[in-house]
Amino acid sequence: MADLSTNYLGLKLKNPIIAGASNLSASIEKVKAMEKAGVAAIVYKSLFEEQINLESAELDEELEAYNERHAEMIKIHPDIKHAGPKEHLMHLKKVKENTTIPVIASLNAIYEETWIEYAKMIEETGVDALEINLYHVPKKFEITSKEAEENQLKIVKSIKKAVKIPLSVKISPFYSNPLNFIQQLDHLKVDGIILFNRLFEPEIDIKEEKHIFPFNLSNKGDYRLALRYAGLLHGQINADVAAASGIFDGQEVVKLLLAGADTVQVVSTLYKNKIEHASQMISQINSWMDEKGYEKIDDFKGNLARKNTKDPFVYLRAQYVDILLNSSEKLLNNYPKP
Ligand SMILES: Cc1cc2nc3c(=O)[nH]c(=O)nc-3n(C[C@H](O)[C@H](O)[C@H](O)COP(=O)(O)O)c2cc1C
Repeated sequence: MADLSTNYLGLKLKNPIIAGASNLSASIEKVKAMEKAGVAAIVYKSLFEEQINLESAELDEELEAYNERHAEMIKIHPDIKHAGPKEHLMHLKKVKENTTIPVIASLNAIYEETWIEYAKMIEETGVDALEINLYHVPKKFEITSKEAEENQLKIVKSIKKAVKIPLSVKISPFYSNPLNFIQQLDHLKVDGIILFNRLFEPEIDIKEEKHIFPFNLSNKGDYRLALRYAGLLHGQINADVAAASGIFDGQEVVKLLLAGADTVQVVSTLYKNKIEHASQMISQINSWMDEKGYEKIDDFKGNLARKNTKDPFVYLRAQYVDILLNSSEKLLNNYPKP
């Protein structure tokens, strides 16, 4: 049996599978089920700034007014409006007390003051690390990318100063140059980068001609964006890298590790395939390592990172160059006839 243990944010994990932030981590029963299935750590669902700001307000209308700002909050968090920050911190503490695996808290806020105050309160709950979920939903034409990035970096810098526990940052892929932004985060000495958060996108029902808010989970194959950046980042930054978005089975975890990720975060697969699926993912990684004769994760981690591959363009191709240069006949023949 191979040794799947790995390090992430200075924490020793028994394997590279972390349950990403979601409502699953809000239930002690589900956290225990995740622990039993072999998940190595959990990220507790985010404390949203809107929870803080609107704690004592009548929430329904205000939440709709805030709709544009918190892309991940409305509807995929139907119960969030009932939970204020105090209740959130209480639950977080309870989860930490009821599990033996590391618990990472998550904070999702926009204004500096609220971040710092709540980051400190989160730290006091005894959690093992803090993850900041950064996102920017454009709504004003006049804000430049530089301003938006500087605002985010300023927040991270202040929070890094305010807490002692390890700090990781979950980002979206929507930067002109994610590598540059990640490098700036690395210079601020954050302990980890999570690639990537998945924002809630609006949807329209054409029969009713209205907006709808479907429960949106990732689809199989969505991991490839994270794979590209894990491959580009491996060996280039000090921060650990957690790949997230669309990782569904053990073979996909292996791919991300080969590209150079240190860990993975999973949510959709736990919803779609049930929590117990995590144990199957672990067995799949184990079998692959045994088959290949790898004893530990470091034996193969990053073997296919850009830095270690002979093809310098493997992570840089953005278009279907090969297909354009080669006969499209071959490609057509690979697809079944309608
Ligand atoms: C029901 C649900 C709740 C979520 N809650 C949070 C959250 O509180 N904070 C956060 O940063 N991400 C949240 N996410 C996003 C996930 O942590 C993750 O980034 C995203 O689902 C992509 O990973 P996946 O493809 O494995 O699902 C949530 C996702 C779902 C489906």
